[in-house]
Amino acid sequence: MKNTAIRSLIIAFCFLPLTAFSQKTSVQNIDRRVEELLAKMTVDEKIGQLNQVVGDISTGTDVKQDNLLNQIRAGKVGSVLSHTNFENKIVMQRVAVKETRLGIPIVFGFDVIHGYKTIFPIPLAQAAGWNLAAIEAGERIAATEAAADGQNWAFAPMVDITHDPRWGRVMEGAGEDPYYGSRVAEARVRGFQGADLSLPNTVAACAKHFAGYGFVEGGRDYNTVDMSEQRLRETVLPPFEAAARAGSATFMNAFNTLNGVPASMNKHLVTDILRGEWGWNGLVVSDWDSFGETVEHGAAEDDTDASAKCLAAGSDMDMAGGTFQLGLKKALEQGRVTQQQIDEAVRRTLRFKFSLGLFDDPFRYLDPKRREQTLEKPEYRQAARAMAAESMVLLKNDGGVLPLDPAGPFKKIALIGPYANSIGNKDYMSFWTLGLGMRDYDSTKVVTPAMALKPALEKLGFEVTITEICLDANCDEKDYSAALNAARAADLVIACVGERGYDCGESRSVNTLELPRGQERLLQIAARGNKPAVMVLFNSRPLVFPWAMENVPAILVAWQPGFEAGNALTDVLTGKVNPSGKLPITFPRSTGQIPMYYNHLSTGRPQAQFGEMWKSGYLDMPNTPAYPFGFGLSYTTFSYSDIKLNKAAINKGETLEASVTVTNTGNVAGAEVVQCYIRDLFADISRPVKELKGFEKIKLAPGESRTVTFKLTEKDLSYWNDQTKFKADPGKFKVFVGGSSVDVKVADFELK
Ligand code: GLC
Repeated sequence: MKNTAIRSLIIAFCFLPLTAFSQKTSVQNIDRRVEELLAKMTVDEKIGQLNQVVGDISTGTDVKQDNLLNQIRAGKVGSVLSHTNFENKIVMQRVAVKETRLGIPIVFGFDVIHGYKTIFPIPLAQAAGWNLAAIEAGERIAATEAAADGQNWAFAPMVDITHDPRWGRVMEGAGEDPYYGSRVAEARVRGFQGADLSLPNTVAACAKHFAGYGFVEGGRDYNTVDMSEQRLRETVLPPFEAAARAGSATFMNAFNTLNGVPASMNKHLVTDILRGEWGWNGLVVSDWDSFGETVEHGAAEDDTDASAKCLAAGSDMDMAGGTFQLGLKKALEQGRVTQQQIDEAVRRTLRFKFSLGLFDDPFRYLDPKRREQTLEKPEYRQAARAMAAESMVLLKNDGGVLPLDPAGPFKKIALIGPYANSIGNKDYMSFWTLGLGMRDYDSTKVVTPAMALKPALEKLGFEVTITEICLDANCDEKDYSAALNAARAADLVIACVGERGYDCGESRSVNTLELPRGQERLLQIAARGNKPAVMVLFNSRPLVFPWAMENVPAILVAWQPGFEAGNALTDVLTGKVNPSGKLPITFPRSTGQIPMYYNHLSTGRPQAQFGEMWKSGYLDMPNTPAYPFGFGLSYTTFSYSDIKLNKAAINKGETLEASVTVTNTGNVAGAEVVQCYIRDLFADISRPVKELKGFEKIKLAPGESRTVTFKLTEKDLSYWNDQTKFKADPGKFKVFVGGSSVDVKVADFELK
């Protein structure tokens, strides 16, 4: 079958069954087999299929569990999550298939967040590369490794938009913009699921966390979420709808309440919007014990009440908590749920397993030979290295300190700081690298900055010293003399600062974005009174570094780059790769400015400049960010022509074309992310001052020019409001095109 046909087969599984394909994997054929099997199942066997139990890694609160194999034997397990041991998975599958009455295979789920055995840059870093093809290819590799290791189902992509970098999970997403977040969601789903879910090198995707999790109050993980339908529809839901329409086989509930109703039992989200409006009919799995936590939320009385409310809302499978096992049968007996509702959840579960090919061959993903041949191929690391280099964002390069030029003025280079050469603690990665294990992993697989930079720079004729200092995350070293001496002896200092890898991810929110005090001290040593210095930031979120911003001439955001951290950093610092990253999320000047995002409303009193009274601003801080959404420098420069429009006004149904000519005005080749924004000047309700509606990453040789054209239709100009759903208001608009959300050319047009 052609890829497009098979891809629409996947989408057909999740949406209402459409047309049939080849006999074996057609929707109708699978539905027939599902009905045949369902008819044979007892109530206990049905409820057992809705139970997902924890394997050998725990990623949440303590949950009590009986012996896993005994539970499987008793027909109480439909799925196992977070199990790393390959041989065990074979044993579990054998028990499920050979020692239960109906032999229904288990589906194995796993958090495949930024690579599986080969670790890629964190998703937020990948988003900074603005290269959708690379993101898709990276997930293709992650899926290939995960499927070869017996995983069938990735608990990804995480598509939560957020405006709050204090939230530790900001690293898992694509930043603050719903348009870009939607494009990234589609690329990830395509990468994971490929053309056919039943192939042994694809895994099911899982759009999570549905929905609103990124807006937890205070950026504090698992906290309350309260927002207007307007924000839900315009900012939160677009990437989820994009994932659903891209064919994501599954969705995952969020932990949070949304306007008082826990997401797992939120009928408005799961039934009205996801299944109703979008027509998506795939499997919804809870988050870790999120069914049971509805009791803790105070929105359910006990396991029976929780089971009834979550199932009735349209959620299907119970991750980790065992709530359905404890309460769903009682809920049925009490008439709180119907047999049809249970059957519908089981249907979606069985259909999911059929689409993976698990009934045709339960051991398809458990082939030791394929595993041996597939994991950790060298080309995977090359892909990770290229993505890491492309994700790095150059924020500052005063005086052209970078790239390091052997013919330049700096001969002696000192590399200092906690992340110059750190081993362990999942540094340069994140908590979400469970394919390597929870904490003890083979850290020799990670290339540190020192390992790569020293030989590479010495080969170029530089002298390099390495001073590992501030090795504890807080960097409150008392004695900085080693760093001081190294800095004094050097022409240029590279300070590697930022966050501990293990401290990045879930349950890792922070109350301040400031660098640890000791690291700023280190940067002062590095800058030694405005001598040439480079700050390399290993970070999982926007951080705040006011002193460095003013005093360190070069600043490079390296994010958490994954296995190839050191090599990718070397490629960028030496100019082998010209940095092209652009921020997918605003870097505020201070934690106190949060929430700060580019696509904000004007307010009735926009402050034109800092200090203006009776306007919306602070007495002690400008309204501007440290570095805006879409910003990133290059080793070259780009110029933009004025915008040319194909017409000054469009009627509904017509297309506006906005073109600019971009020129590389520097003397090295480079890539530029050309961004297109709009503003609806007057509408029924207040509209954002800018909204991203398109982007294109182009490569230009020195002196080369390219014309980039963005096509805008009425759909691009539409917005949600309660009265009228999505629609565009006739009236005046602006279109902006540029290399960031602030450095733009502008043109006016009208929608008739
Ligand atoms: C965690 C996370 C979720 C993850 C799941 C399994 O608590 O919220 O993203 O997929 O549990 O690890």
